Amino acid sequence: MTDTIEIKKGLAGVTVDYTAVSKVNPDTNSLLYRGYPVQELAATQSFEAVAYLLWYGELPTESQLAGFVAEERANRTLDDNVKQAIDLVPLEAHPMDVLRTAVSLVGASDPAAFDNSRESDLAKSKRLFAKLPAMVAYDQRRRRGQALVEPRDDLDYSQNFLWMTFGELPDPVVVRAFNVSMILYGEHSFNASTFTARVITSTLADLYSAVVGAIGALKGPLHGGANEAVMHIFDEIGSAENVSPWLDTALAEKRKIMGFGHRVYKHGDSRVPTMKAALDTLVEHYSLEGDHARDLAALYDTLESEFVARKGIYPNLDYPSGPTYNLIGFDTLTFTPLFVASRVTGWTAHIMEQAASNALIRPLSAYNGPDERHIDGYVPDDAFAATVRRAEESVE
Ligand code: COA
Repeated sequence: MTDTIEIKKGLAGVTVDYTAVSKVNPDTNSLLYRGYPVQELAATQSFEAVAYLLWYGELPTESQLAGFVAEERANRTLDDNVKQAIDLVPLEAHPMDVLRTAVSLVGASDPAAFDNSRESDLAKSKRLFAKLPAMVAYDQRRRRGQALVEPRDDLDYSQNFLWMTFGELPDPVVVRAFNVSMILYGEHSFNASTFTARVITSTLADLYSAVVGAIGALKGPLHGGANEAVMHIFDEIGSAENVSPWLDTALAEKRKIMGFGHRVYKHGDSRVPTMKAALDTLVEHYSLEGDHARDLAALYDTLESEFVARKGIYPNLDYPSGPTYNLIGFDTLTFTPLFVASRVTGWTAHIMEQAASNALIRPLSAYNGPDERHIDGYVPDDAFAATVRRAEESVE
């Protein structure tokens, strides 16, 4: 029986549903958000406008954007219980665990959590969008022994995110690169964390549960955790001169090189050139402050060219975004939480799309365990036997 079943391990190549949120086309190396090429959005839009596009399907008019921005700015502050919950998470825990906990608490504190209407889910999506930067920034600060920096409502999303993290006003070059990274990370069709969110939504569970599940899926190094893992690899290699011997050993040990390869893109990730261009602006900017930026850029270029030449596997978005966040000054552990702050837009757009046209997601499996067997000496008691009989009769 099982011989005739074709198993699609990892659901590779399986199309499970329609989506109008984004289109990934590996043949043309393109990514569209609601029809717009992501490169055009990164060049012309704020992350706030792109979030609006993902949720509503259209870019906002000036007044719609003003309304959304005002709402976002009014919702940036963390409630005391969320701050306290973050403080309770051990400093040794991964910051993704902090976000999982904090988002869960925001959900548990929302009296409308169980209202799965689009209107209520939009309000929840905007709330998480507004509050995640404060969670990420506060967690990095407490790890460094620094006090929380309150948000400023005269700053846009990216400026304020950097303000709350570093306690100083960021340079426009830095704000621009950060905004680009947020836009590029925002959405990517049925990736593992988005699919997780859709599976949870398909059971009619609430939006917060779906986002918490998605955070768990994103944490893994084969998915969002790769931007952090890229930086660990850079630290391990040390400098451009060490790339060749390091790669010899890593490939001999059959290690996966983080930041390279993709389940869908096999000829390069459509988002990489845009992110790399933003990284280049930062390298130039930070080169004025010392050798670190240029050394990092040399290591980046050398590892990319050697790995592509040897394996024909191209960098994905995590490859340029890891060094970008490093240069801006984020701790390596904070990289994947930054991905969460961005991808929450795509997740919630998919959650609302799934809810609007729902079918419980429940695939089949092919059993390959032991044949039916029984516990030695087990004799069913009368009550159990009666229950079984009743069940059998009801089937008949
Ligand atoms: N380093 C080394 N080898 C890699 C590789 C990498 N980053 N990515 C793929 N390969 C190799 C695999 O070892 C495999 O080789 P084999 O056929 O000799 O066994 C082949 O390429 C196919 O890889 P596979 O893992 O089956 O492809 P996939 O589509 O299932 O995996 C990823 C996609 C993303 C999981 C994979 O490329 C990877 O692990 N990359 C590193 C993690 C990462 O950057 N993740 C972020 C993704 S956006």
